[in-house]
Amino acid sequence: MKVLLIGSGGRESAIAYGLKKSPLLSELYVIPGNPGISEFATCIDNIKVEETDKIVEFALSHDIDFTVVGPEVPLCLGLSDELIKAGKKVFGPVRASAMLEGSKAFSKDFMYRHHIPTARYYEYDNYDNAVNGLKDFDYPLVIKADGLAAGKGVVIAEDEKTAITTLDEMMNQGILKDAGSKVIIEEFLDGFECSLLCFTDGETIKPMVSVKDHKQIFDGNRGPNTGGMGSVSPNPFLGNDMDEVLMEDILKPFIKGLKEDHLDYRGCIFIGLMIKDGKAKVLEFNVRFGDPETQSIVLRLESDLLEIMYKTAIKELKDVEIKWNDKTAVCLVLASEGYPGSYQKGMEITGLDKLDDEIVIFHAGTKMDNGVLKTNGGRVLNVCALGDNLEDARDKVYAASEKIEFNGKYCRKDIGLN
Ligand code: AMP
Ligand code: GLY
Repeated sequence: MKVLLIGSGGRESAIAYGLKKSPLLSELYVIPGNPGISEFATCIDNIKVEETDKIVEFALSHDIDFTVVGPEVPLCLGLSDELIKAGKKVFGPVRASAMLEGSKAFSKDFMYRHHIPTARYYEYDNYDNAVNGLKDFDYPLVIKADGLAAGKGVVIAEDEKTAITTLDEMMNQGILKDAGSKVIIEEFLDGFECSLLCFTDGETIKPMVSVKDHKQIFDGNRGPNTGGMGSVSPNPFLGNDMDEVLMEDILKPFIKGLKEDHLDYRGCIFIGLMIKDGKAKVLEFNVRFGDPETQSIVLRLESDLLEIMYKTAIKELKDVEIKWNDKTAVCLVLASEGYPGSYQKGMEITGLDKLDDEIVIFHAGTKMDNGVLKTNGGRVLNVCALGDNLEDARDKVYAASEKIEFNGKYCRKDIGLN
């Protein structure tokens, strides 16, 4: 099978690593890919993930059998719709379903109508009405920009002053451009957060192994949110005792809701949850794999990733058996100092040749500059390993991380612990 993968981050590196192992794969193309992926696949770096027409043209001219879309932006732009129209099979939902991530108002309305537990909320597209609506909630409350905002669209306001400033910035000043012209205000939920990733073809839904992401930049979950500083699977804070609750309260109503609304969904659904007293509420839906959750998950997958994805795309997911190993996987993000604020790029990366075989490196923000590997983003590399237990996996990735050098290298020291 000739496969095309869309994206360039650590998540896509992990997906590419999984696809590469499949005996069904004949050729793997990646748009645009990265230097790590280019070691074993053909990267087409002159097409951007937003360039839907060019991607479709590429798929047609290269006889691509199957496309896997990594990031949310092309999904929300309708890349899957266009590929399907061109007769291609795709893993990744069509635009109407991608709005579960692309519009918070759409996703909250979906949850409300299909009785999926979530925080109480109201939706506003007028600033004065939004300010007036603040009185319906206690503090802290949560303000969310409706549209895609690359992780910057959610503010937890501790007091009225912060809430009004946030609404003003999003709705009047346009700091998030169009994404903030509509907002939702919702109640603050406490509990512990976890992510649930599932394969679904709209009929069958199969949860993946549990995983935990570490969102904040500093140890002890302090400091600003990032895209994710590391991940661990299984999630050390979530026992199997929640499996049935999650299936009954969240996943079954989710599938029923897709059907009732005639939403075609073939891909990964990544559900952000808040859990308290044995009950779960949905914080958000993402219509794609998580980054860096995927990096840990892929290391635990024993079955053929390409087969699972392809069967999902042709609505035969129920026939696939998905097997996982019982090891612990840890993924540590090596970031550029300053991230998630401003940081420098172009630092030479060394030491990747000194690592043991059991370490898996996924490139995230790197580039090749005249044969020299350099940093090219906030999250630079993912250092990953499987271990017999959490301590073993942590020991391996932290020992490996010491051998990799670049100016401004920063990582959390407590992945898997906090
Ligand atoms: P979201 O993009 O909606 O998942 O929000 C990003 C982050 O904001 C989540 O991972 C939570 O840490 C936090 N968050 C979002 N909604 C709420 C809520 N209703 N109560 C508490 N924290 C929230
Ligand atoms: N790690 C969080 C995300 O991928 O959205």
